[in-house]
Formats: sequence, structure tokens, C-alpha cells
Amino acid sequence: MSFDLVFFGGTGDLTWRKLLPALFQAWRHHKLPAGGRILAVARDERSDDEYRAFVRERFATVDSSKRPNEAEFDEFAQLLHYRRMDLSRADDYAGLKSWLAERAADTAVMYLATAPHLFPVICEQLGAAGIAGPNVRIVLEKPLGHDLASAQEINRAVRSVFDERQALRIDHYLGKPAVQNLMALRFGNALFEPLWRREWIANIQITLAESLGVGTRGDYYDRSGALRDMIQNHALQLLTMIAMEPPSSSDADAIRDEKLKVLRSLKPFTPETVASDVVRGQYRAGSVEGQAVPAYLDEVKVPAGSRCETFVALRTEIRNWRWAGVPFYLRTGKRLAEQDSHIVVNFREVPHPIFPGTRRANRLVIKLQPEDGLELHLLAAKGGSINEVLSPVSLDLDFDEAFPSERVGAYERLLLDAIAGRLNLFVRSDEQEQAWRWVEPVLDAWASDPTGPRPYAAGGWGPAAASALVARDGCAWSEEQ
Ligand code: BG6
Repeated sequence: MSFDLVFFGGTGDLTWRKLLPALFQAWRHHKLPAGGRILAVARDERSDDEYRAFVRERFATVDSSKRPNEAEFDEFAQLLHYRRMDLSRADDYAGLKSWLAERAADTAVMYLATAPHLFPVICEQLGAAGIAGPNVRIVLEKPLGHDLASAQEINRAVRSVFDERQALRIDHYLGKPAVQNLMALRFGNALFEPLWRREWIANIQITLAESLGVGTRGDYYDRSGALRDMIQNHALQLLTMIAMEPPSSSDADAIRDEKLKVLRSLKPFTPETVASDVVRGQYRAGSVEGQAVPAYLDEVKVPAGSRCETFVALRTEIRNWRWAGVPFYLRTGKRLAEQDSHIVVNFREVPHPIFPGTRRANRLVIKLQPEDGLELHLLAAKGGSINEVLSPVSLDLDFDEAFPSERVGAYERLLLDAIAGRLNLFVRSDEQEQAWRWVEPVLDAWASDPTGPRPYAAGGWGPAAASALVARDGCAWSEEQ
């Protein structure tokens, strides 16, 4: 199958930091269909060779296991092309159309790795130039809007030119093998599903913790904040996968319909519940993994006095028969103690204890990163004495060890799916809009709340109020359990 893959924003960070290294991996693993061309589009004038030299230089900063050697780069670089385009000029799209027509590949993928305010104009221009036929797909990178209205505006512009099945909205978390394993755990195994409900589960916690700060992205991040950057998309997508009903098939829409139902069942926030159930924080200076790090306010490109949140913890519920009354806690933050993303399913305690000291409930930990695996915490008898207190034990499964050679990175997987037209791991517009609808009252309440985010020291687990939020229900976050 021949393909053309066009990166709008071809010299931007996302393209050279994530997308091209992922494509290189796909190429190295012989997964990239033969006969492909990769075209980077940007504003400045460069030849193909100059662009290849630019990428070669950038690749030197990529993780060494993913870096091409000279010979590999030379071969891979033959796929790379460059085109100068002014994204508002119809003529430039006509030029792109001729470039595509030179070869009439089976599939053309337009990947919008630009600032989102350019999405509508790029879609309109592609439509006007006639680059929107059934063999064309468009991939939209996050942030997909800033709020519900801007997300809807982007979706309207996309829909006026492309069919929903041609529009692929990226949430790179869906491409992570650990996240795909969530589906396998729930729907490829019969073991947990009967227990996967309010009768047996006390609460579920989703933690997406980062030890990194905002780095050089202070300007972007300050307009976003942790709620928009991580909760509206990644954390909510994980929540839907944990809570959804079994889909009738593995068809993309069968899955997306079930995810949408979860989003629609989330308890809506009011100004009162934002005050009681959402904690926002901002990091101060501290020490992460033994290194002194500056406060958020001292990071480059962060405006003085910013009230942007770098941490969010919240409590919600899903209003349906399966989950009524079960707290779901979501938490994310920058400059936390370590990089650690996981989901904890806390089961209920045994209904009638017959062993001394059996208060410890079972716990399933779904580890997403840096490790990718499962941990099932149980109680066991050592068999040493009568009336002994049971001991905590755990079953551990490490997927990186179980499948060492078959793991594929998130962007590699998503790019291959975009080329092949597999939609399962992309977010549908109604899911994305519903997620905005749910977070918006939080944004509104914060905008009119003069107190701002709570400070927390870099290198910890966020403001103390986040622990208090779960302690209120008699729970604790995983690091405190
Ligand atoms: C991105 C956010 O979507 O996800 C970043 O914009 C964040 O702020 C990143 O650092 C985290 O992704 P990962 O794959 O490193 O967990």
C-alpha cells in the first residue's frame, strides 16, 4: 500500500521530537508500508536535502536506543521531503495537490501538528483545493481547542470538509501498549468482569504523575494548565476504558459509543462541588530525584504571578447502575516525586472476616509507566501458626518482560494506524466535546475564584488537600497505602 504522509508544522518540536523518531522506529521494525513518502510542510524555504540535514541534527538528541546510525538515517531520509507553504494561501495548496497527484498514492494522511487555531484554515483550504477525497485522512493533534466552544468550532471546520471517519483525533495515551492492555484485561479475560462493579469495588484511582516540570513549554502550558493538558483528555480516556460497558465488538464505533456513555454519566460539577471535590496546585521550588529545581513561576516563558495549575486532584462519580456511589479519583501533576502513571482498583473488604486482622482489601494496580504491568495484592497465610494474621502478598506481571521484542511506542502505533485507517485508538468528536462539557464548570469556577492554586513543593505528591480529598472517604492515595 503506497501512502503520503504530510506533516503540517514540519519543523516544529512535535514533528522532530516525537513523530519522525516514531516513524523511524516503524521503518526500522519493517512495519512502515513500502512505497511511502513523508512530506514536511512549514513556512521557511528549504530544499529536501536541507530538511534532511535539519532532521539528522535533531535526531542526535533522541534517546540513543531510538537513534539511527548513519547508514540507517541515509536510507530513512530518502522518504523525507520538504515543501514551503503559507497555510493561508490557496496557491500553496494547489502546489501540494500537484505534489500528491504526481504519484496518486493509495492513502494520503494530513497530520496537523500545528497550533490548533490553524486547524480550521488548513481544513478549509484542503477542502477548497480538493484534497479531501475518500483516500485522504486528517490527523489532529492536541490541544483540540481550549474549551467546548473552540473544540466545536474546530470540529465544525473539520466536518465541513471531512467525514467523521476521515478525522483522527490523537490522544497519544491510547497508543500506549499499557493502555491497550486495559481493554485486554477487561474484555479478553473473564476473571475480573463479574467483580468490576459497585458491589465489589470500593473506589478507583487514576494517577498520572510526572517528575518533569514544564521545561521550555511555559508559554503553551500557561495557557493550558493541568486540567486541560492531562485531565480533559488522557485521564478521562483512561477513566472511560476502566468504566465502560463491554462493547459488542472491537469495531471503533462500538468502543467509542460505550466510552461516550461513561462521559455522559459523569457527575456534573457545580461551583460547590468544584470547591469541595477539586484541588489545584502549583509547584514551588524543591528537589526532584536529588536535583534542586525551580518553582513554576521561575520557569522560562511563564508570566509573572501566573495562577496556572500544575497539579489537579479530583473526585467524581459515574451515575449508572454499575458504578453508582463509587468514588473515582483522578490526579495529575508536574514536578511530583517520580514519573509514575497507574490505576488502582481498590476492592471492598471481605464481607465477614474470619481471620484476625483481615481489614486489608484486595487491590489491583494497573501500571502504565514507566513500568507496564499488573500487580494483584492479596492476603495469604504463611502457615506458621494457628490464628496467624494473614500477610500481604502480590502477584506481579511485567509486560515489558513478557513481550520484550513486540512492544511498539505510542506514536509509532498511532501513525501506523492512521496510515492503515484503523480508528479504534482515535477519539471521536462527540467524546472529545463531552469531555470539554464536563471540565468546563471547573474552569469557570476557577476563573472566578480569587484564591488560585495551592502551593506544593516540587518533589512531593502535591498539596496536602489532595490527601484530605480522599481521606474524607476513608481512602488514601497509593503511595500512602
Ligand atoms: C502531553 C502533555 O499530552 O502528555 C504534556 O501535553 C505531558 O504536558 C505529556 O508531559 C505526558 O505524556 P507521557 O507520554 O510522557 O506520559
